[in-house]
Amino acid sequence: MFITFEGLDGSGKSTAIDNLKKYVKKNYKNKDFLFTREPGGTGIKEAEYIRNFVLSPEFEIDPMSEALLYLVSRKIHITRIINPALLDNKIVICDRFIDSSLAYQGKGRNLGIPKIQELNSIVTNNMKPDFTFFFRISPKVAIERLNKQNKGLDRLENGGLEFYEKVFDGYETIIKNDFKRFIIIDGTLSIEKVANIVINEFDKIFNNKLTTN
Ligand code: ADP
Ligand code: TYD
Repeated sequence: MFITFEGLDGSGKSTAIDNLKKYVKKNYKNKDFLFTREPGGTGIKEAEYIRNFVLSPEFEIDPMSEALLYLVSRKIHITRIINPALLDNKIVICDRFIDSSLAYQGKGRNLGIPKIQELNSIVTNNMKPDFTFFFRISPKVAIERLNKQNKGLDRLENGGLEFYEKVFDGYETIIKNDFKRFIIIDGTLSIEKVANIVINEFDKIFNNKLTTN
């Protein structure tokens, strides 16, 4: 089972994943989990190297090179971490995956969602998550949350409101075309409410799986 978390920067994905991690540790003791994230990947230094490069505000990178860097990092991540874990029957939970490329590079950087989809299909062999949690917040809220965090903005976060509006539209288009895969979470609810909704939806996935298997 492969589950991804998506949304604008600041939408609360990492916070929700941290809460889910604590929950499964207590309540899913008989299942094996792998928590990882993109760009990069938990424990792979080659992909983390690309993460640092692609996010660093000190570099100028054109949109297509940016898209390709995310893809290289993804390919390494899939080969080294995701595929072996899935073959081992683990539940893989990944903070961002292909949908981020479609929304950020396809729409945000104007490369076109179909083109990014095609490149990703080639590189990942048409890999798709089973379920995707999407944390919906407006671009304005995303910017407010980023500005509140007392750390410098990375290269993508520097895109500003106009960029985030395009990325938001990108996500909405992707969801419309593949709505069965998505679980939409209202990211403006309190951290506690969001955590409970995620846990509830997560339990539903596994109850369904138990009854359908
Ligand atoms: P992401 O991983 O999607 O970028 P984070 O989980 O890192 O988002 O959250 C970004 C910021 O917003 C953090 O300061 C976090 O404490 C805050 N935050 C997360 N979830 C919520 C929420 N539901 N309501 C208000 N603030 C939140
Ligand atoms: P990160 O600090 O992990 O952001 P977050 O905590 O919001 O997930 O930075 C990842 C950034 O990279 C984020 O701005 C989204 C962007 N990104 C892309 O543009 N394309 C991609 O394919 C991926 C995986 C991420």
